[in-house]
Amino acid sequence: MALITVDQTKCVKDGICAAECPVLIINLKEGFPEIAKGAENFCINCGHCVAVCPTAALSHTKFAPEDCMEIKKELLPDPEKMEQFLKHRRSIRSYKKKQVAKETLEKILSIASYAPSGHNRQPVKWHVVYEREELTKLCGHVIDWMKWMIKEKPEMAKSMELELVVAGYEAGIDNITRNTPHLIIAHGDKRDFSSNTACTIALTWLELALPAFDLGGCWCGYFNAAAMFWPPLQAALGLPKNNVSYGSMMVGYPKFSYHRIPPRNKAVITGL
Ligand SMILES: Cc1cc2nc3c(=O)[nH]c(=O)nc-3n(C[C@H](O)[C@H](O)[C@H](O)COP(=O)(O)O)c2cc1C
Repeated sequence: MALITVDQTKCVKDGICAAECPVLIINLKEGFPEIAKGAENFCINCGHCVAVCPTAALSHTKFAPEDCMEIKKELLPDPEKMEQFLKHRRSIRSYKKKQVAKETLEKILSIASYAPSGHNRQPVKWHVVYEREELTKLCGHVIDWMKWMIKEKPEMAKSMELELVVAGYEAGIDNITRNTPHLIIAHGDKRDFSSNTACTIALTWLELALPAFDLGGCWCGYFNAAAMFWPPLQAALGLPKNNVSYGSMMVGYPKFSYHRIPPRNKAVITGL
């Protein structure tokens, strides 16, 4: 079966699909798009050809126009709303003792999964540590890793202030996961060149999506450093073989509201 099919009664031969194909495999034959035999293998299944066609004339074996979500321009933010939206995001470190419904987390993760990935490889996998009790057990491994670091890599441990974190944790202050009700891990196959960056971008999208659901989050750097390097924590997480946790995020209902946006350093820009 051909990778793309074209309804010639709808196609207006504008050639936009060919111009927009990122891997340039669409040719125009008498104005109609087609893919040369063998070139199908280079398709990255991004769906641009289907999404960009103004007359919905083109279908891909993976998705037809009717499988694609409609773009509702009236819902898109203008520059002022976008500025507020991006600047109002805060790292949230105090959470209500309230679980987030599993369906809500699924919905947010399905949105974050629309983040871009190199070659559209979509290598990101999600692991949700849903139960706080389980997370507390996992934190025990993080503390073990920190103690190992303090002993074996004192310089690095100092630069990460691990002694303080351990002392705080043992005094009852969870400065690793901040008593978050849930932790979300983005992981991917370490043999895939795109995994690391894709996980970082997807987690960024996750964090940005949270406030729309009255939720907040915070990157969980200490936890993730341990998840990357400490075998007992990796065993307890049970991610697939070859997969690495490239980022972790606390997620929950914020205990407090923020009222203003603190300034950041002026953007350093050259070339303008
Ligand atoms: C990769 C990464 C790791 C982070 N790890 C932690 C962490 O382990 N604990 C924490 O409280 N905050 C962590 N943060 C949050 C930063 O401290 C926070 O983004 C920064 O202070 C700016 O504040 P804002 O996010 O509210 O703008 C991390 C942020 C990033 C991007």
